[in-house]
Amino acid sequence: MSQQNAAQGEDRPYEPAKGPALRRITAGAILRRKGKAPFPMITAYDAPFARFAEEAGIDFILVGDSLGNVVLGYDETTPVTLEQMLHHTAAAVRGTSRAHIVGDMPFGSYQVSDEDALRSAIRLVKEGGACSVKLEGGKHESQRIRAITAAGIPVIGHIGVTPQTAGLGPGYKVRTNRERLLEDALAVQDAGAYAIVLEVVDPAIAREITETLRIITIGIGAGPHCDSQVLVLHDALGMYPKSPSFAKRFGELGQSAVAALRSYAEDVRSADFPPAP
Ligand code: KIV
Repeated sequence: MSQQNAAQGEDRPYEPAKGPALRRITAGAILRRKGKAPFPMITAYDAPFARFAEEAGIDFILVGDSLGNVVLGYDETTPVTLEQMLHHTAAAVRGTSRAHIVGDMPFGSYQVSDEDALRSAIRLVKEGGACSVKLEGGKHESQRIRAITAAGIPVIGHIGVTPQTAGLGPGYKVRTNRERLLEDALAVQDAGAYAIVLEVVDPAIAREITETLRIITIGIGAGPHCDSQVLVLHDALGMYPKSPSFAKRFGELGQSAVAALRSYAEDVRSADFPPAP
């Protein structure tokens, strides 16, 4: 089956879990945005914020394993389990009606074997309702990408900084190894992925990759010349005091939440409450 067919949901080897999935933006439709105006992707981990994103006109939503850092209180993404990803992906799906929801494959859910990777991806689609899945890795993971796309599930690769294995390399430093990045990006494309995340990649190299590939590039800390841009929701909305230097804060929701809760607490303490209905 061709990637285009896979992306459009044709010749699926199984019935999709829910009818509404068929009304959603497909990976094929995302792919057709290549070379046109840049478009946004945002992470979301629950129904209300996925719905806010959709209401704001963002139709490409990643339930990232950054869940571990920004929602579950871990310092890293490695402890995140497939069960947790399923739980949160399904919530984001329930909160939206049209958006393309990408389920992130957590550490340990795809590294062991192709069969394991395919089983995890199928669970994200059938139980989580994800429209496509993302996994970290380039050339090294291309066999896994091939196995998942061959079963009709659209895949996004992820190169540059890969948080699940950040401890192995130079951490969160900007990636500048042009040959290696291009080789990884091409391997992800050849394996059948419809898109690739470029995380903290030198902007000139991200631009070259975007111009070289037929598939969608999604930048995060990789400069403006990508087909799409993604940010972690909590960074974009300013829910924590600090955010990465590349992530513009479009709001200060953390401060607003504290102010609102302080005012609620003051009302309760001063018994300044509306009369009971
Ligand atoms: O988990 C995540 O949120 C991600 C994005 C930062 C791309 O992988």
